[in-house]
Amino acid sequence: MSTIINDIEIIKAETSKIKDIDFDNLKFGSVFSDHMLECDFKDGKWQKPKIVPYHPITLDPSAKIFHYGQSVFEGMKAYKDTNNDVFLFRPTDNIKRLNISAKRMAIPELPENYFMDGLKALLKVDEAWIPTNEGSSLYIRPFIFASGNGFHASPANEYKFIICTAPSGSYFSGKVKVLIEETYSRSANGGVGFAKAGGNYAGQFYPTQLAIDKGYQQVIWTDDNTHEYIEEAGAMNIFVRINDTLITGPTSDRILDGITRKSIIAIAESKGIPVEVRKITVKEVVDAAKNGELKEMFGAGTAAVISPIAGFGYKNEDFDLPELKETYASLLKKQITDIQTNKSEDSFGWRYKL
Ligand code: PLP
Ligand code: COI
Repeated sequence: MSTIINDIEIIKAETSKIKDIDFDNLKFGSVFSDHMLECDFKDGKWQKPKIVPYHPITLDPSAKIFHYGQSVFEGMKAYKDTNNDVFLFRPTDNIKRLNISAKRMAIPELPENYFMDGLKALLKVDEAWIPTNEGSSLYIRPFIFASGNGFHASPANEYKFIICTAPSGSYFSGKVKVLIEETYSRSANGGVGFAKAGGNYAGQFYPTQLAIDKGYQQVIWTDDNTHEYIEEAGAMNIFVRINDTLITGPTSDRILDGITRKSIIAIAESKGIPVEVRKITVKEVVDAAKNGELKEMFGAGTAAVISPIAGFGYKNEDFDLPELKETYASLLKKQITDIQTNKSEDSFGWRYKL
């Protein structure tokens, strides 16, 4: 039987899996809530989204996603406060970025209200899945892929937009060590690095595995042309602190315009932390590590939140970051998560109450 919330049809699951979930031991993105949003593009337009039980999808082997990788995705989180009110963080930015990514991958742009009205209905139905334990949240994964068929190397005529949600704990476990890449590239000028396109991530897996084999968790990508400038990591933007100054690279068509990144810049500036948005050379980071001026490095992203980096490798040398008592990373993480979880005032107007 179906019901309607805000004009969105809802078909409820007959049983819930929630009682089988150990909310005290949540890994990142590995268990999924009872429902999902499903919305098709066919006959030249996006059809209305529906909320349906979480279910496997059937595709023709010739579906273009399998052959040409036409897919884009987003990452966001829902948080519950102590009154059980539910909040999103800057959701409009995710909707806009999904469409920026879609346009670059020749995927038809999605009406913004289909995303937002659909997501609200999904979160209403699966509200019980939003964790309340410290450090956990409901990770939201909206994505679009080419479901239309044919081997012709051209955009599909049919697509699926889906939103799944996963109650999740932290993305990294243990200390994060990164390898500054000097051979492989994640993206290139004029390419798709700024888009959250599935293939951007697939292309990182092989070099990242080489780094994992050497004892690092993530690669810090450098520019494809010279490998002299720090760009971003596989799943997060990168900040370095040299003495008291917090520095992050400018976004470009090679780098994802991270929502966490721009929020961190604004929070840091509001706290009087000197912030520079400028190109960062690998050389200055290595030199600063050698002469003790490199105080911190951290990654920033929705999944990663703010993840301090304990050390980095470069050209067969390893560098450890100092263990400071008070770090920008912990100050900024507290500030941003307090806004997200409604523990503090939100003078920026980023929090979105459902
Ligand atoms: N860079 C990459 C490659 C990412 O996948 C992500 C994660 O979404 C980020 C940066 C951080 O972006 P955001 O803060 O919007 O999640
Ligand atoms: C996110 O932070 O939401 C992302 O999409 C990163 C992903 C690779 C887990």
